[in-house]
Amino acid sequence: MKDVAQIRADFPILSRTVNGQPLVYLDNAATSQTPQQVIDVIVDYYSRYNANIHRGVHALSQEATDAYEQARQKIQQHFNIAASREVIFTSGTTHSINIVANGFTTLLQKGDELLVSAMEHHSNIVPWQMLCERTGATLKVIPMNREGELRMDVYRELLSENTKLVFCNHISNALGTINPIEEIIEAAHAVDAAVVIDGAQAAPHVKADLQALDVDFYTVSAHKLCGPTGVGMLYGKSEWLAKLPPYQGGGEMIAEVTFEKTTYADLPHKFEAGTPNICGGIAFGAALDYLNGIGLTEIAAYEASLLAYATEELLKIAGLKIYGTAAHKTAVISFNIEGIHPYDIGTILDKLGIAVRTGHHCAQPIMDFYQIPGTVRASFSFYNTKEEIDALVAAVERARKMLS
Ligand code: ALA
Repeated sequence: MKDVAQIRADFPILSRTVNGQPLVYLDNAATSQTPQQVIDVIVDYYSRYNANIHRGVHALSQEATDAYEQARQKIQQHFNIAASREVIFTSGTTHSINIVANGFTTLLQKGDELLVSAMEHHSNIVPWQMLCERTGATLKVIPMNREGELRMDVYRELLSENTKLVFCNHISNALGTINPIEEIIEAAHAVDAAVVIDGAQAAPHVKADLQALDVDFYTVSAHKLCGPTGVGMLYGKSEWLAKLPPYQGGGEMIAEVTFEKTTYADLPHKFEAGTPNICGGIAFGAALDYLNGIGLTEIAAYEASLLAYATEELLKIAGLKIYGTAAHKTAVISFNIEGIHPYDIGTILDKLGIAVRTGHHCAQPIMDFYQIPGTVRASFSFYNTKEEIDALVAAVERARKMLS
């Protein structure tokens, strides 16, 4: 990978201090930081061509439309998606999943079964529970083992001709597990079930080839991959997106409106009612350019070295237990120290300038499984360093001594 000091110079926020200490930012699974190259794109948009898209004949509107549609194409290419109409801009993964969950309301009935993995974020649980309430379908859980790996044997037993949908994250936000989505998709398709993969945590670490995966739906949030908040993607196979009704009604998503009847626009606009996050969409494309400039393969190798080092060093601390020890995992470490509440550790780390997330990480069923209130989660990015891990380990040890 490119020199990490050079990479860090792209991120203005990394040179600030917090509580008088240099910032050590290890909450990347919540949101990644934004490089100057993406900030410049945002400033350029509002400085030079801020306008509404797909609507105006004037120059600014045309420029904004072109930039927005180019970003859609960048996303299409990055994820190897067959057609740009299969890329729906959304406000993020939660919005993306809700579009699909709402759309399936008319396609399901009592007796249908939906399978959800035990390690999902609430955004990939609650919309499906709401769908079950609307349709009478049943939600069943694919369990996991103590390491935080899905029980694929049980998954295969749960699949049946009643299974209509399977949901799973590509990478768990709370444990870092990289799930075997190729196998999950293949097995689901063998019983004609559609698969929705939440790719929010995977996109900054792994380059997903959506045609090779043959996945039915895949979701991404730009803020996890050096883009801004409030924008993301729903990928859906054209045949599925054609079957699903629109999620919201409004401008942009129509072909023709009369008081008697409205017809809907073609894909992708059918799912893009209202003025979108235009600047966000353009910046999403710029963030992918930035990541590809470094290279996701290089990023994954560097982050694997950070994960190995941090795991080894943290485990030297007395009473520290890591949750999520899957054979395939990404740079996320969830941990607790015996007898100490995760929130207390997080508060002391913050005083020392170290940003981590504490709590249930919007994945309460995982915490219930381990019978813990939550964890401290350090999540790494390609701009983190071994020195920052040393600072984390020293601070956790200090917190342990203070709180024991
Ligand atoms: N889903 C984000 C996280 O894991 C917010 O922190």
